[in-house]
Amino acid sequence: MNEKLQKRIMQLKTERNATILAHNYQLPQVQDIADIVGDSLELARAAKSIECDAIVFCGVDFMAETAHILNPEKTVLLPAEEACCPMAAMITADEVRMLRRRFPDAAVVSYVNTTAEVKAESDICCTSSNAIKVVESLDEEQVIFLPDKNLANYVARFSSKEILPWEGFCFVHDRITSNDVHRALQNHPDAKLIVHPECRPEVIDMADLVFSTSGMIKHVCSASEKEFIIGTEIGILHQMKKKCPDKICYPLSPEAICINMKKIDLVEICKSLELLQPRITVPQDIASRARKAIEKMLEL
Ligand code: 13P
Ligand code: SF4
Repeated sequence: MNEKLQKRIMQLKTERNATILAHNYQLPQVQDIADIVGDSLELARAAKSIECDAIVFCGVDFMAETAHILNPEKTVLLPAEEACCPMAAMITADEVRMLRRRFPDAAVVSYVNTTAEVKAESDICCTSSNAIKVVESLDEEQVIFLPDKNLANYVARFSSKEILPWEGFCFVHDRITSNDVHRALQNHPDAKLIVHPECRPEVIDMADLVFSTSGMIKHVCSASEKEFIIGTEIGILHQMKKKCPDKICYPLSPEAICINMKKIDLVEICKSLELLQPRITVPQDIASRARKAIEKMLEL
């Protein structure tokens, strides 16, 4: 069944002149048929540079929106329309405008995990891999950082600027606790602990290293150590097994599953390429303002 579907997807990909991008949290079979698998920054960069007519975005809504903002002339498909990021829905454009009135001297940095409307109200975007660099690139000494309070707190550790966090969070990372860390370290005392900056401060305090998803994969592959406990969504373990099969990676929490990232399977990809639906579009006025914030980040 999978083989037949894979073959049909490849056929349609050529017919449609399409490229498949997949986030590191996607299902293994989706990662395996993708042209590029990566973290949010890598996928945004890929979306800007690839030559094709259609992008099949295997990820969540804000990622497909970002791809469309950077490529208004291309067809951007999100094979499961309902694949959304709950954190991105935790702040609205009205709330950003309210923050600007309250803190008129502050710059607004929005994580890419936001809606296009929120990006349009922001000075610059960031991802988990460049958040510190983005904040440090600004002239302002006061920075509104949204929507992830955990990423904001992580950035504040490295910056002398005043960071004003919004109270959003990722339900997958925020529910990883220090008890999970104690349990994992007890079971694997020789393993190095690597966590995502969307984790709570007490979990970050216990980690050996903090990286974006692709940063974690690169580190595991190049490190001299053999065993790692991985504190992020478990889909990433598939890329680790593929890229560095000699390493042993354990999930910090086997329950760290983003159901939104699992809504796309081969059937949805195939259907999406057949019908060129569901298409993700962003109204032009919002897209042109959001593009400035995204491109400012990509230029760094
Ligand atoms: P990165 O892959 O950029 O580290 O982001 C993780 C994430 O939660 C994306 O939704
Ligand atoms: Fe959103 Fe968290 Fe899922 Fe990433 S893992 S898409 S931040 S809910």
